[in-house]
Amino acid sequence: MEKGVIIATIEVAPNIFKMIIGADDIAKRIKAGQFIILMATERGERIPLTVAESDSCQGTITIFVQRAGKSTCELADMCEYSKLYSLSGPNGRASEIEKTEGSVVFVCGGVGTAVMYPVLKANKEFGNKVIAIMGVKNKELLILRDEIEKISDQTIICTDDGSAGAKGFTTDILGEFIKSGMKISKVIVAGPPIMMKLVAEITRKYAIPTVASLVTIMIDGTGMCGGCRVEINGGSKFVCCDGPEFDAHQVNWGDLLLRQRIYTGEEKISLERYKEERRCYGQG
Ligand SMILES: Cc1cc2nc3c(=O)[nH]c(=O)nc-3n(C[C@H](O)[C@H](O)[C@H](O)COP(=O)(O)OP(=O)(O)OC[C@H]3O[C@@H](n4cnc5c(N)ncnc54)[C@H](O)[C@@H]3O)c2cc1C
Ligand code: FES
Repeated sequence: MEKGVIIATIEVAPNIFKMIIGADDIAKRIKAGQFIILMATERGERIPLTVAESDSCQGTITIFVQRAGKSTCELADMCEYSKLYSLSGPNGRASEIEKTEGSVVFVCGGVGTAVMYPVLKANKEFGNKVIAIMGVKNKELLILRDEIEKISDQTIICTDDGSAGAKGFTTDILGEFIKSGMKISKVIVAGPPIMMKLVAEITRKYAIPTVASLVTIMIDGTGMCGGCRVEINGGSKFVCCDGPEFDAHQVNWGDLLLRQRIYTGEEKISLERYKEERRCYGQG
């Protein structure tokens, strides 16, 4: 399959797209927890995205993309059979998977479910008991539900509005699990940074090892620019090459949340310009 060619794009939830892309070399080498960096067009930005699935026989990778700003919109708007300007990977360190005595609990928020899916699958294949807590605003936003229910020993869905599963947040469900006395060896979390911070606060009280898959802003993705710098245990680490997974109890969440908002103004302008351009060309 020719590298970078978009084979299929399916809107699986409002503004969330499953995309299958030709990438023979990446499909052969990717490990759970790693990601790709792509540029949709020559004038686009380099954006990191997790490889949710790969098929080394077909030479394809599958990603789930949520429209967040200009670059993710540009990617989701590309036509099938068009070609990405650039695609590189696998990037980052693979998830460390070890045999655990108790359960491994996955806390997935929103599109973080796509980030967690390959890691959850790899843990199950390794023989661990896996529990998935999937949280979204409403039932329309649930992704990978069937796939996760099929491989998890237990799956709990929760929605902010109660339209599917329990009404409430992933943190409420996690708290109940811990209090029930179930043996939990590890918690792994991916989703909005504020949710990851709250999960880390809960598990810290019970000394449950917790890993967070961080989604920081990235620029070069090579450890040179410092764009993805995070403070871990008082020192600097780069998510693109030292991560994306880190001990959630060692992350300086306050700093991470602040850095995430640095370019809010520019991001808004960039998205407006993109939408305006599309309107001018009759594509908006
Ligand atoms: C290792 C890694 C894996 C990721 N995997 C996925 C994935 O599988 N699916 C998916 O939809 N998204 C994923 N992301 C997030 C995705 O990279 C960002 O949503 C994207 O770069 C935003 O670009 P934009 O131009 O569309 O938005 P921008 O206009 O740049 O930003 C819009 C909003 O998104 C936030 N944002 C910007 N860059 C990032 C970023 N790198 N990570 C998180 N938030 C960001 C901004 O703070 C802002 O609130 C991942 C990020 C990382 C670091
Ligand atoms: S993105 Fe530049 S150092 Fe990580």
